[in-house]
Amino acid sequence: MADLFQRSIEIILQNQSASGAYLASPNFATYRYCWFRDGAFIAYAMDRVGEHASAARFHSWAAAIVNARADIVRRVVAKADRGEPLHAADILHTRYSLDGTEAAEADWPNFQLDGFGTWLWALGEHWRLSGAHLPDTWLRAAKLVADYLTALWPRPCYDCWEEFPDRIHTYTLAAIYGGLQAHALMEGAEHRATLAEISRFLHTQSVVDGHYVKFVGSREVDASLVGLAIPYKVVEPYDPLMRATVAQLEARLRRGGGLHRYAADTYYGGGEWVLLTAWLGWYYTHVGEREKAGATLRWVEAQADAQGQLPEQVSTHLLAPDRHAEWEARWGPVANPLLWSHAMYLILYRALERIDQG
Ligand code: BGC
Repeated sequence: MADLFQRSIEIILQNQSASGAYLASPNFATYRYCWFRDGAFIAYAMDRVGEHASAARFHSWAAAIVNARADIVRRVVAKADRGEPLHAADILHTRYSLDGTEAAEADWPNFQLDGFGTWLWALGEHWRLSGAHLPDTWLRAAKLVADYLTALWPRPCYDCWEEFPDRIHTYTLAAIYGGLQAHALMEGAEHRATLAEISRFLHTQSVVDGHYVKFVGSREVDASLVGLAIPYKVVEPYDPLMRATVAQLEARLRRGGGLHRYAADTYYGGGEWVLLTAWLGWYYTHVGEREKAGATLRWVEAQADAQGQLPEQVSTHLLAPDRHAEWEARWGPVANPLLWSHAMYLILYRALERIDQG
């Protein structure tokens, strides 16, 4: 594909609704919704390529969703302060229909905190990169989300792959950390104590055998751990613990050119994820590994189809080949295009450009 950069922008813009929401994937029924997680990364990519108006439309959509649920947030924060158990009605959902209503299936694993941290982080980046004044309604929503995360961060929740609900996930905590940090910068909000607690928790509970692990109590790695350094900066990219973690990811989760999510992944047989491979490349651009970063970009580009679409995952080196067919039968072929894949490609492309331009 000659110009995957332009094509990626085009696919993202085509699949942004008038409300500002980004569809996770237009051709995959289960993903015809907007997730805070995917949407936040997509908005950041749009800011990186100068499409600030698109990012602003997304943030406006996200802020409206949160502000419409201010009562839920206040109630759950009070419950958490009293140490009470939470029920399904107490939490913010993870994905929404384009008009901002909650998605229909009641049994979706909705209690996921990472996307809200990522949203705060992306909002901070929008502010920094666009130089725009943030409307009061957005700041009101940001404060609600910060309160929500401050109250709930120590609780187990579903991870960024919407699995393992009874665990405390390293990536999730990093996303919350990055979000609260951004909120502190944007608003001068005081999150020092929570940030220090999360950081201490991660360094004591999420490290085994000299590297970070997928969740507390696990010995496994997960590709999302890259996020600890880039973009959430709960640890420096050059930190030996981070380098050791990335070395583990390379050794355990990269058999072909692409990166898998985690060793026991069976979703669509556990393929190589385009967005994670680009994310690893993004990390490499931060530690001066130009060659390695360039190789991830080339691998991602090679996964685009004739229409310049990037899928969620590719099935050339499956970890669990016998589990592929059951997912195809259930939900159809792998999601393609996945907007988050295009977003991570754009982010990596820009990061490489920055290195090359010195
Ligand atoms: C992934 C999530 C993602 C969602 C929409 C799920 O299969 O596990 O991380 O947010 O798809 O792309």
